[in-house]
Amino acid sequence: MTVEGKENVTRDIVITGVALLLQGLTSYYFSSKCCESSSLSNDGSVDAALSKSMEPDPSTPFESFGFGLNVEVDFMWIDRINEGAGSAAYSSEPRLCLKPMGEIRLHPAATVLNYGQSLFEGMKAFRRVDGSIALFRPERNASRIKSGAARLLIPPIPENVFVKACNDLVRANAKWVPPYGKGALYLRPLLFGSGAALGVKPSTQYTFCIYCSPVGDYFKKGSDPKPIRLQAIEDYSRAAPGGVGSVKAAGNYAPCFKVQKEVKERGYDEALFLSVLGNGVIEEAGASNFFAVFPDNSIMTPSLGTILPGITRESVIELARNRFGCTVYERQLTLDDLKDASEAFCCGTGASITAVGSVNIASTEESIIFGEDGTTMGPLTKSIKESLLAIQMGTNAESNYSNWIHRIE
Ligand code: PLP
Ligand code: COI
Repeated sequence: MTVEGKENVTRDIVITGVALLLQGLTSYYFSSKCCESSSLSNDGSVDAALSKSMEPDPSTPFESFGFGLNVEVDFMWIDRINEGAGSAAYSSEPRLCLKPMGEIRLHPAATVLNYGQSLFEGMKAFRRVDGSIALFRPERNASRIKSGAARLLIPPIPENVFVKACNDLVRANAKWVPPYGKGALYLRPLLFGSGAALGVKPSTQYTFCIYCSPVGDYFKKGSDPKPIRLQAIEDYSRAAPGGVGSVKAAGNYAPCFKVQKEVKERGYDEALFLSVLGNGVIEEAGASNFFAVFPDNSIMTPSLGTILPGITRESVIELARNRFGCTVYERQLTLDDLKDASEAFCCGTGASITAVGSVNIASTEESIIFGEDGTTMGPLTKSIKESLLAIQMGTNAESNYSNWIHRIE
């Protein structure tokens, strides 16, 4: 063989090797990225969805919806990364991650199923008065899921990737964002260990998924919302110091089902969880934060630690302080303190701002009533609720808080 011939053979071997390597990498990439239906990967449906009209679906009865999976939307976001690949491996590419809404594939040994290595978020996309669509402070959810990921040893999603994924999912499902004043598109980002392993240790693979659904009110109250009735529970607790109460771990929620069921059977709307430290120290009202309002224009809410740092809570504190001139205390708040309160409310993305009419103490059967008879929303609760809604809906000049609004593009 001539020297030239040898060079050709070497070149052919190198080309074949590179081709095989590329083929391997491509199939690995697509098997990890496109684990669910891959039918949208290259057929242009994603591009079409991202450029089509943002008008709400005219034949959907959005106004009749409660808080639930009311319709099957078009798209979900789904991305999988392998352990060790790190945060940079999360994709922000809608052509890879937007899939038809549907079931997801999971091995029975997945860490999420066996050991509960899982976080979630809750967010709403609103149709504003001008017809545009906006998310409320999504960067705060991005930051919260990042803290949760650090606690559960999950590779954190870069905050800009999280916000872009939410943006693109809403854009692709824009027709499912209810018309102005008729509800919201609720987004449920999930981040969990999806790798199969028997050993009690963090996962070898992680899934970042976002699904969504148009929703109405969390507490079904109709057009004239009456305050809800809470029952304070002393024989169950939700979180303890050093635990995971301050992150949105999926495992925090199932243990509350039994408590919530019992509370509802006794005729109340939601459980008010107390601290494991005793003395009637208040923590949270189900899946929402709790506030008490006092006649001297001060408001009090439990300090952070074992409770979820709610984004609505943070926004209420800002509005109460800077818009309504309230003195805001984030401190230990007890059932005894409530006896001096004139109003109470709970707040959250799902719950919005919901007036609390009374708190019943399960162990003593005593009830603390707010306002005259616990059936009307207090004036400060009403003002804060309307102010927050106006910012979310763009119904008046709320320029101070325009940075709370992420417009969907
Ligand atoms: N507390 C708990 C336990 C929750 O699940 C939620 C809802 O996410 C909240 C409080 C309120 O948080 P946010 O205002 O961020 O929705
Ligand atoms: C939310 O308010 O978004 C929540 O996640 C609470 C609840 C619906 C689980």
